[in-house]
Amino acid sequence: MNALTLTVDDGVGIVTFDAPGQALNIISRSVRNEFIALFQQLDADPSIRAAVLISGKPDAFIAGADIEEFLDWKTAAQAESASREGHALLDRLERLRTPVVAAIHGACLGGGLEASLACPWRIATDHPKTVLGLPEVQIGLFPGAGGTQRLPRTIGLQAALDMILTGRNVRAKKALQIGLVHELVHPAILRDVAILRARELADGSRKRNARLKPGGLRNALLDDNPVGRAMVLRKAREQVLTRTKGNYPAPLAAIDAVAAGFHGREHGFREEARRFGEMAMTPVCRELIFLFFATAALKKDTGAPSAGAEAQPVERLGILGAGFMGAGIASVAVQQGAMVRLKDADLGRVGKGIAAVSAVLQERVRKRQMTRQEMADRLSLAGGTADYSGFGAVDLVIEAVFEDLAVKHAVLREVEAVIPDHAIVASNTSTIPISRIADASHRPERVVGMHFFSPVHKMPLLEVITTPRTRPDVVATAVAFGRALGKTVIVVNDAPGFYVNRILAPYLNEAGALLDAGAPVEAIDAAMEQFGFPVGPLTLLDEVGLDIASKSAAILHEAFGERLAPAPAMRAIVSAGRTGRKGKSGFYTYDATGKKGAVDASVYSLLATPNRSPIPPEEIRQRCALALANEAVRALEEGVVRSPRDGDIGAVFGIGFPPFRGGPFRWIDATGAARVVSELEDLAARFAPRFSPAELLLSMARRGERFYPAEGRPVG
Ligand code: NAI
Repeated sequence: MNALTLTVDDGVGIVTFDAPGQALNIISRSVRNEFIALFQQLDADPSIRAAVLISGKPDAFIAGADIEEFLDWKTAAQAESASREGHALLDRLERLRTPVVAAIHGACLGGGLEASLACPWRIATDHPKTVLGLPEVQIGLFPGAGGTQRLPRTIGLQAALDMILTGRNVRAKKALQIGLVHELVHPAILRDVAILRARELADGSRKRNARLKPGGLRNALLDDNPVGRAMVLRKAREQVLTRTKGNYPAPLAAIDAVAAGFHGREHGFREEARRFGEMAMTPVCRELIFLFFATAALKKDTGAPSAGAEAQPVERLGILGAGFMGAGIASVAVQQGAMVRLKDADLGRVGKGIAAVSAVLQERVRKRQMTRQEMADRLSLAGGTADYSGFGAVDLVIEAVFEDLAVKHAVLREVEAVIPDHAIVASNTSTIPISRIADASHRPERVVGMHFFSPVHKMPLLEVITTPRTRPDVVATAVAFGRALGKTVIVVNDAPGFYVNRILAPYLNEAGALLDAGAPVEAIDAAMEQFGFPVGPLTLLDEVGLDIASKSAAILHEAFGERLAPAPAMRAIVSAGRTGRKGKSGFYTYDATGKKGAVDASVYSLLATPNRSPIPPEEIRQRCALALANEAVRALEEGVVRSPRDGDIGAVFGIGFPPFRGGPFRWIDATGAARVVSELEDLAARFAPRFSPAELLLSMARRGERFYPAEGRPVG
């Protein structure tokens, strides 16, 4: 069956893209061949005067190229020639005798947008699902089918750079404002208006390629003036370097390709293809594509330990504790249409919780991601109670009360007395083993952990924690519900710190040990930012709260002994009453609004070693990153995470391990287990036995093994 079908409506050819058996339209090799045949047909049939390109999917236009095919490229030349083929195809589209109108409803991304840019008229529907974007930088590439050439000519240099360098989607209204599309229509009339425009283009009553002159005079002046252009390009380069610390080459290559376009069309396209080929071979691209596939594979993974375990529907959710986390979970649940009952000790706290839910939704309205009406509808799904009224009908309860075993046991007993037999109880505890919580349950097989990260509406990861007693369908339900909330879900076994906090502990401890060794606060943070973390470990501690982090550190110390002992520096700083940003006293200074300022040098006077003596950034990176990676291997070895894939995803999405390194296991593979072992042994000899390599690493180093296959599809 074909993906493209051509029907003719009174002289206008309507090309419907509807990939059989697929949820989305992807431009694969076979689809490209179909396009070639179709272009021949359009050109050869004189009765067809114009054409419309439209999607047959209900709410999606074209999602982009087939990333599976990228895995076939073994050399830069192969990727470059794929880009050149894309150019030839879209050149053909642009020069067709029959003008083509792109009728866009739903996501129009990557190659889909590049194809639309080759059409002389673009209509989009004014619908929340309609977004346009060039997300290629997110996988370490940039638009390689003419996007770096056609986009600046269409919407101006600055707006084009913004889209290409960030990969951000643009909504329909904005697309019209910046000149990315020519007009907006209601979805119901998209096809009819597109046919009408196609006729107008064919008979000349509407001009082909009518330039939209977006962005006003200032942009036009900048674009047409070499000095202005050079300034914009230089600024873009500077911004990229600040944002990426030089770790991501693709945005810089994209700027080069855009710049080349100003020195002639042919030159621009040639440079785009050449640089695209180069980028496709970078380790960064390889790791980001790995993450893309790993995330996709996780979406299909039920998480259940045995086959056949089916997720139960969750329509009504009960949340115990309307505090910071409870309200956060409620805010994402109502957005997905779940009915939520929030329970707290008194109505005042419930009210505060609902207000916090409302604040999250309000922010979405402010960012125009939601209308006021939608907000009102969603908010009406959240109800509150100070007793358990309404809990008789819930399918799932998520407990987010104080981090105290006795309190957790008390609420578990209370809630189990009122919920239906099928209902599941999940705990959002960050440190208490789920089995210990389940000890108070008379149905421990229906108890599971759902560890969300804060702030819940922003953090993408959810750890689902199973105990040996948890039923497989209970795990499957927790996973499916977490996914419905938009989270990337990993399933981990019940063990102290679960996975994410477990690997975070030695990393943060090491930052403390470096403070004891004399490293300045800013040097520690800068080294780890340079490694690729979004913020350094001491900034992170200030954010999380030093009190909370130290409680978690103490639990892990108790569980794992000396290896995870917190550094004296941390104990001293916490004992001095510093809590981080929330208390406006941590490693940094904070103004009245909570904005971070310079390092608070008074923190050094709390240490046993108040004087600072520089430590090479490389040593800081090695100590912190290797401590984390070594612990991740131990967690795998002990079966806490099910696979290197889950461990990598957990580290990247849970704590911001540098995505371009793929995760700790990918990083070890890239470095080589033998080298990691020798670096760890060296650190163990120089500093402390806590660096001793995990058994699994030692055996892998001996046998020259890797966590992932060296060749082929990275996951699944
Ligand atoms: P919080 O102190 O903001 O909220 C706890 C809420 O539980 C309070 O509103 C309190 O009134 C309520 N509560 C206490 N006893 C109750 C009872 N018997 N019945 C009903 N409500 C009761 O605490 P937060 O930060 O929301 O933490 C909640 C849970 O989430 C803890 O287990 C914590 O370890 C975990 N967690 C916290 C994270 C964080 O960053 N704050 C991250 C991940 C998990």
